[in-house]
Amino acid sequence: MHDRMPGRPSAHAALAFYDDQHPPAGDFLADVLEGFSRTPKQLAPVYFYDATGSAIFDEITDLPEYYVTRTELDILDRIGPELSGLAGPGAVVIEPGSGSSVKIRKLLDALSEPAAYVGLDISGTHLEAACQEIAADYPALQVGAICADFTQGLDLSQLQLESGRRIIFFPGSTIGNFEPEGARQLLAGFRDALRPGDAVLIGADRVKNTDTLVAAYDDAQGVTARFNLNLVDRINRELDGTIDPSGLSHKAIWNAEKARIEMHLVADHAQRFHVAGREFELREGESIHTENSHKFTPESFTSLAESVGFDVLHSWSDAADLFSLHWLEPAAKA
Ligand code: AVI
Repeated sequence: MHDRMPGRPSAHAALAFYDDQHPPAGDFLADVLEGFSRTPKQLAPVYFYDATGSAIFDEITDLPEYYVTRTELDILDRIGPELSGLAGPGAVVIEPGSGSSVKIRKLLDALSEPAAYVGLDISGTHLEAACQEIAADYPALQVGAICADFTQGLDLSQLQLESGRRIIFFPGSTIGNFEPEGARQLLAGFRDALRPGDAVLIGADRVKNTDTLVAAYDDAQGVTARFNLNLVDRINRELDGTIDPSGLSHKAIWNAEKARIEMHLVADHAQRFHVAGREFELREGESIHTENSHKFTPESFTSLAESVGFDVLHSWSDAADLFSLHWLEPAAKA
């Protein structure tokens, strides 16, 4: 069911539309109990991002070791004129995850007379705030919001914005936080929402030397460790958990076979704990696997994109090949 409120004089007043697709909320408790029942124990990275976790993630993006954000921003600065030419005038920019306002602003500023911005997020509160800010700062732009879970496909059927190309903007290498099959499904969902001539502009982190990768996820100031351990604080606070965070150590390792950085919380000593009344135990040295961040070569990214019917028409990197942005278009049907 869509609740669509075009131009409704309400909290959504500054928005051209607000399409509430009523995404089911994630079940934190069920996911934690299920993840702790597995061997090895695991937690879903989506739960990092409560208010505290999101604030710590912002700190991560400024760390000297975390090259990802500043490298992508530099590439965006450099390729702005090229993107403007590719997108043409009147583009409709769609941002699943409506994340960093700095990145979307760089893109909107680079494009020639973009017609519309559509934010898409599972959190209505976050979405509303992000879209209202864009609407206030870009008065010539139609700004709409879709409250939906973009991992389940993109339903853009309500998008009555007749204009130029649709461009899905998915920066930050968030694609790397999905398992390979999840990444494929996500891109396939983008592909299905696009028409011939539309495009995806997507960031993807690169495979590189192990020291650089591990340092980016295990920084000297311990910010990423705090980010990882915040998950445990959340469980203790919200799910009546009794995990001793001081008995867990943050660990980042490069898994070369799977081309991914893994984040773990490793038990310094054996402990028993409860979550919502259920008892679990950790042996000394046992790990809770909290995140995967897959890295790509130009070839591995191209094969992922092509496997769901995209052509990779342009790719841009920094001089050190730390990070890449890719321009994908639906492949012409054979
Ligand atoms: C959000 N995502 C792209 C980040 C990454 O690099 O995988 C999350 C992150 N985890 C630790 N540091 C950053």
